[in-house]
Amino acid sequence: MMLNEVVQEAINRQINNELFSMYSYLSMSAYCEQLQFRGCAHWMRLQSQEEYTHANRLYDFLIARQGRVKLLPIAQPQSEFKSLLEVFEKALAQEQTVTSQINSLYELAFQEKAFAALVELEWFINEQVEEEKTARDIVHKFKLVGNDPASLLDLDRELGTRPPEAPAAD
Ligand SMILES: [Fe+2]
Ligand SMILES: [Fe+2]
Repeated sequence: MMLNEVVQEAINRQINNELFSMYSYLSMSAYCEQLQFRGCAHWMRLQSQEEYTHANRLYDFLIARQGRVKLLPIAQPQSEFKSLLEVFEKALAQEQTVTSQINSLYELAFQEKAFAALVELEWFINEQVEEEKTARDIVHKFKLVGNDPASLLDLDRELGTRPPEAPAAD
């Protein structure tokens, strides 16, 4: 059964939201590189790649449901920040925004009785719980560390050990 137009359009918008997240994390990564915090930059680069896989997940879903993918322009992300703490605070705020986008999309799919979309979106609802928690934990660490250079370098080293995403098991 084909997805109706309203749900298709909303999924296309979410593809764009995920691609904006990809872009935004890449921009954050570039900022960290500039400060020579390579661990933070590595973490942000992987996060950016993860957002690309989210966009692709919705892209594949649309195609599987005989929908039409329509790519929209990706807005320019923020490129200047005050500090590493601000970067991760922005990351957390961004994840909270995405959570509300996913929730609205889920609500719409429910109203439209798009049951397969609901199942697909459940994966995203779970993912957002993880994403928010991870970002919140890192913000907490940056707050604890403050401006102590040795601790900042330790934290940077820790973030630099983030492994690449394992291929999605589904
Ligand atoms: Fe995402
Ligand atoms: Fe995310």
